[in-house]
Amino acid sequence: MKPVLLLLLAGAAAAAPSSVWDGVYSSEQAGRGQKLYKSDCSRCHGQDLEGVDDSPPLVGEAFLKKWRGKTVNRLVDLTRRTMPSDDPGGLTREQCTDLTAYLLSANGFPVGKTDLPSDIESQRGIMVEAKK
Ligand code: HEC
Repeated sequence: MKPVLLLLLAGAAAAAPSSVWDGVYSSEQAGRGQKLYKSDCSRCHGQDLEGVDDSPPLVGEAFLKKWRGKTVNRLVDLTRRTMPSDDPGGLTREQCTDLTAYLLSANGFPVGKTDLPSDIESQRGIMVEAKK
């Protein structure tokens, strides 16, 4: 095998994503996300994230089906760019990361000891996965 290809393979292995099952957010962070959710999101997505009218649920099988196989930065980015849908773009990346931590918690992914980092490179390394 050509050396350059070996290098590429080694690079890919080093960047292999960890998963949302690894305890990637803290309970304090999910708590901050929950507060934001109540003030900025629940009026559309519902108190229990169950979805109302046009606003889809943010918990459960239908939601997870869309996000499995994607890395968490995608969820953070979508929230940052498009939510709240009637006034998007006002939340910081940190706030959207806290909100994502809350969504992970509400979807039953395990809590860990440290915050989900808000930088995009770290977030690209964490995959939303079905239970192992
Ligand atoms: C004014 C109503 C409204 C508010 C407020 C709102 N959303 Fe949404 N949200 C929507 C709608 C409508 C969609 C569906 C958009 C689409 O399908 O293009 C959506 C979609 C989403 C999705 C993608 C869901 C999926 O199934 O993939 C996420 C994640 C999300 N919202 C998070 C949030 C968060 C976090 C907040 C609070 C910061 C928020 N939304 C506030 C209306 C709202």
